[in-house]
Amino acid sequence: MSIADSLAAQPVLRTPRLTLVQHGPEYLDEVMAALQDAEAMKLTGTRTEFTREQVLAHLERLVGADERADFAILDESGAYLGEVVLNDLDDDNLAMNYRIGLVASGVRGQGFGTEAGRAVVEWAFDTVGIHRISLDVFSFNPGAQRSYEKIGFVVEGRARDTMLWDGEWVDSILMSMLATDPRP
Ligand SMILES: CC(C)(COP(=O)(O)OP(=O)(O)OC[C@H]1O[C@@H](n2cnc3c(N)ncnc32)[C@H](O)[C@@H]1OP(=O)(O)O)[C@@H](O)C(=O)NCCC(=O)NCCS
Repeated sequence: MSIADSLAAQPVLRTPRLTLVQHGPEYLDEVMAALQDAEAMKLTGTRTEFTREQVLAHLERLVGADERADFAILDESGAYLGEVVLNDLDDDNLAMNYRIGLVASGVRGQGFGTEAGRAVVEWAFDTVGIHRISLDVFSFNPGAQRSYEKIGFVVEGRARDTMLWDGEWVDSILMSMLATDPRP
């Protein structure tokens, strides 16, 4: 199967505590609520205020997309915990970008982000055929960096002053994981 076909036929991924399903319009209310979380907006560097219509249009585009994979993260009761995303497909070089966000501070720090990330990178490497997954994380977010390291991402470098937030310059830590890297 081609990479595009694999991404379009995005499966349900199961982990011990989570189910990762195709993200889409049925999670509109949850995504709108998550966009009100000021801490998450800072951690992800999100400044734009999206309207409900814009978010709905975005979620509708995700279903069946063949150049990205967006998963809604659900717990054992089916509650929406956040999203984990592979995007920016570079087809020629078998590379994608990774990002994740758990919706509320109450669900962070319990290993859910790491558990979801492991399942997604494993699928991308072993089933889709991706070779390299990269991400960047702001230097004020060591918890996220630690979670990524537990998945198997390694630091490649530091991009200086990539964001101006509340009058302060913030660096980005650049990380990546290759299909051939150890999976801790
Ligand atoms: C980033 C995120 C996905 C990580 O998922 P998570 O389930 O909270 O992470 P985990 O609980 O698996 O791991 C967090 C690790 O960071 C560590 N940690 C937390 N705060 C830390 C700090 N200030 N310094 C160093 N390590 C820290 C924890 O101890 C834990 O490591 P351990 O298991 O070795 O003890 C999640 O917290 C999240 O969505 N945060 C908000 C949005 C965000 O930051 N997105 C990423 C943008 S790049």
